[in-house]
Formats: sequence, structure tokens, C-alpha cells
Amino acid sequence: MDKDKNIVWSKDQVSYERRCEILGQKGLTVWFTGLSGSGKSTVAIELQKKLTEENFVCYRLDGDNIRHGLNSDLGFGEKDREENLRRIAEVAALFQDAGLITLVSFISPYEKMRRFARSRTRENAFLLVYVKSSLETCIQRDVKGLYKKALAGEISDFTGVSAPYEEPENPDIVLDTDVLTVEECVERLYRLIVEKVR
Ligand code: ADX
Repeated sequence: MDKDKNIVWSKDQVSYERRCEILGQKGLTVWFTGLSGSGKSTVAIELQKKLTEENFVCYRLDGDNIRHGLNSDLGFGEKDREENLRRIAEVAALFQDAGLITLVSFISPYEKMRRFARSRTRENAFLLVYVKSSLETCIQRDVKGLYKKALAGEISDFTGVSAPYEEPENPDIVLDTDVLTVEECVERLYRLIVEKVR
């Protein structure tokens, strides 16, 4: 069946610009990518706090959380990860259009899907943040105890151990969490975000 048949786009009578005017900000997708344990969620949580304190309207989409609900039907094989990221790219694009600042933290190991996410968002409203940490550091931190299990062969397809992570080719910013503190990461991102959304 042709899924596009008999579907006609229903147009709004309210513009994106008008929404932004009401909110006092432009919409922006801040897409974090990096290994499990690299610090994506930690930085996003603190950044959300800071942005909210400064009266920006900000929402967080986190891999671990979304996999409890919207994407609870998906696993960690290549096809499922692609679908996980495809859905989130679409949600993020909708939130951007709604005028929100959305902090998206998923491993997002595939360059193809990060490009897709950018392509679904309007021009100049997407930041790719590479939260960079060596695999050794992530294994050492092992906050959730998952690397231990993955290295023992108890979890399959684990990113960095038994599944690939493609380093981003064109990140807008790289945060090396082996070196930077959480506060330093937040400060750098905050400055970049404010430039984009004002
Ligand atoms: S993604 O690759 O599809 O972008 P996502 O960010 O949604 O991954 O989920 C990653 C989180 O799921 C990790 O932080 C970890 O807590 C958990 N997890 C469970 N199994 C795996 C696995 N096989 N590989 C990576 N992360 C896993």
C-alpha cells in the first residue's frame, strides 16, 4: 500500500514566529552524542537547570527515559537503534517547531542518523554536541554497571564493546569530559545556545 495516498497536509493558521514571540525564544535542538557513561545526561540535566533558571523553556529527551515509554518496543540491534533515533529526530523536530529548546541525549552512534536528525530540523536550529570521553574512562566510571556486564558477555551489542560508535564528522562543539568539569561543559554550551535562541 502507498502510505502517502489520501493524506493531505493540514496547515496551521499560527506561525512558528508567533510562537517564538510568545515564548521569547527560538526553538533549538541540542543533540548530544557519545558513549554510554560519557556524561551526556549529566551535562544535559545541569544545562536544563541553568537554562530554566534563566527563564528559557527547555525540555530533555533522554535515551534511558524514552526507552521506558515511546520506544519501549525497541532493542539495541542496528535496525532498532535506527528506529529509536528516527523517532526521536522527528519528536525533536516537532519540539523545535513548537519553540522549545530540546536537549536530546542518546548514544546516537550512527553518523547517518545524526545527519537525518539535523536534516529534519529547520536551518540554524540544530547543534550537534559530541560528548567525548575515552572508552577506558567510561569503563572506569561504569555508573550503571553495564560495561562490566558487557565485558563479561552478559549484554550483547554494547556500544564501544561489541557494537560500533562512529565519531561525529561535523560536531558543532566537542566537550572532552576526560578534561572538562560538568560546570565548564554547561558554561560553554549555555553561551552557544543563548546566541542561537535570542
Ligand atoms: S542508542 O544507541 O539507540 O542511541 P540510547 O541512547 O537510546 O542508545 O540508549 C542507551 C542507554 O541504554 C545506555 O546509556 C545504557 O544505559 C542502556 N543500554 C542497555 N543496553 C545497551 C546496549 N547494548 N548498548 C548501549 N546501551 C545500552
